[in-house]
Amino acid sequence: MERLQKVIANSGYTSRRKAEELILKGKVYVNQELVTELGTKVDSKDIIVVNGVTLNRNVKKEYYLLNKPRGYICSVSDEKGRKVVTDLIDTKERIYPVGRLDYDTTGLLILTNDGEFANILMHPSNGIEKTYIAIIEGILTTEEIYKVKEGIVIDGIKVVPKRFKVRSKDTLKNKSNVLITIVEGRNHIVKKIFESINHPVNKLKRERYAFLDVKGLQSGDYRLLTTEEVSRLKALKKKR
Ligand code: URA
Repeated sequence: MERLQKVIANSGYTSRRKAEELILKGKVYVNQELVTELGTKVDSKDIIVVNGVTLNRNVKKEYYLLNKPRGYICSVSDEKGRKVVTDLIDTKERIYPVGRLDYDTTGLLILTNDGEFANILMHPSNGIEKTYIAIIEGILTTEEIYKVKEGIVIDGIKVVPKRFKVRSKDTLKNKSNVLITIVEGRNHIVKKIFESINHPVNKLKRERYAFLDVKGLQSGDYRLLTTEEVSRLKALKKKR
């Protein structure tokens, strides 16, 4: 017997967190009965219907690493008809992005249909490091560099980077190229950090995600993660 939200996530329908939301919202039926309790246990014979869709419990798990181009939404569909990252990947499986990069952010994005795996990567306590290269407006003062390194409070929570450095400064264009490594996964977090010290981000690229990078992948290109990479990422789950 397994917990309902875990089974929904494992089927590739969505992440564990979203599965919990769907259960609480009354969108999940088990053997034609509405279930709204998160602790509910199910077995392999139970028929689970989420949002009117019967779960396929034997889906093939897929794991992709995409070098996201600018101008794509990190979603599986968009009501305004904008391009979404899953358009770039040729698969019949219902894959979705792990976390979010903004519409105008480029770089490393993982997509999968493995809800448990997505959950491990997104859980803040697993401490997965993401490295971004940003072009920001202006030249940082020593005090501002110190401030970023010490940690800036964004929406009530302090973000202390694992690493922060100014890679280069262009005094003529009045721009700086900076590298920042954070564990945080909140939306727009890098932009918010630099906006808060009046150095807005002009360009943002995610260079690394845990031990992965986008070397060898042109913008818009993708590859499958190797079995070893998937195991290494799963092993980042901390015991709680
Ligand atoms: N931080 C941002 O501000 N934007 C992203 O796309 C990712 C991290």
